Amino acid sequence: MNFDELIMERQSDRRYDTSRAVEDEKLMECIASARLAPSACNAQPWKFIVVKNDELRTKTGDYAASMGMNRFCIDAPAIVALVLEKPNFTSKVGSVLQGKEYTLIDTGIVAYHFCLKARDLGLGTCMIGWFNEKKTKALLGVPSSRRIPLLITVGYRAGELREKTRKKLSDIYSIDKY
Ligand SMILES: Cc1cc2nc3c(=O)[nH]c(=O)nc-3n(C[C@H](O)[C@H](O)[C@H](O)COP(=O)(O)O)c2cc1C
Repeated sequence: MNFDELIMERQSDRRYDTSRAVEDEKLMECIASARLAPSACNAQPWKFIVVKNDELRTKTGDYAASMGMNRFCIDAPAIVALVLEKPNFTSKVGSVLQGKEYTLIDTGIVAYHFCLKARDLGLGTCMIGWFNEKKTKALLGVPSSRRIPLLITVGYRAGELREKTRKKLSDIYSIDKY
């Protein structure tokens, strides 16, 4: 797949082939690609928890399902929790001086790297920002000083590739001035 094909092929997959497990090697390849993502001051403020144990995985999925959202997570063959680690000094100082949460930007980029590589390997993913973080942290033994900005569900896609729903190109840019 070339780059354009890959970004068209990646979508938020919310239906998985539950009879097909995700190979550990493929998950490791996704993390290896994610590792190469850029980050402010090269802080790399992330850690991935691959939730493999069935009980932990289904509980993690369950903690994402509420108010009619994310019921599909319980059936995800694999779930990866992205932990926000402490950034290095320069990234932290830069964030304060600029009033920007660089670490959150970093985690978005690293998550997307993961998802693109997953698609490259034939896998489907969905980034999950709606979940009970407190319960998930307790379940996975994440220290209280850390955050989990995102979960990523992973599995072999069972649904169709959809048309992308996006704003018109002309609505998202201007030249020279706002
Ligand atoms: C930060 C973030 C959080 C998201 N959280 C959820 C979520 O909790 N549940 C869900 O089903 N999709 C979630 N998504 C997926 C978006 O709904 C999806 O990316 C968007 O609708 C565009 O569709 P596409 O990914 O299929 O191109 C999230 C995406 C991002 C980037």
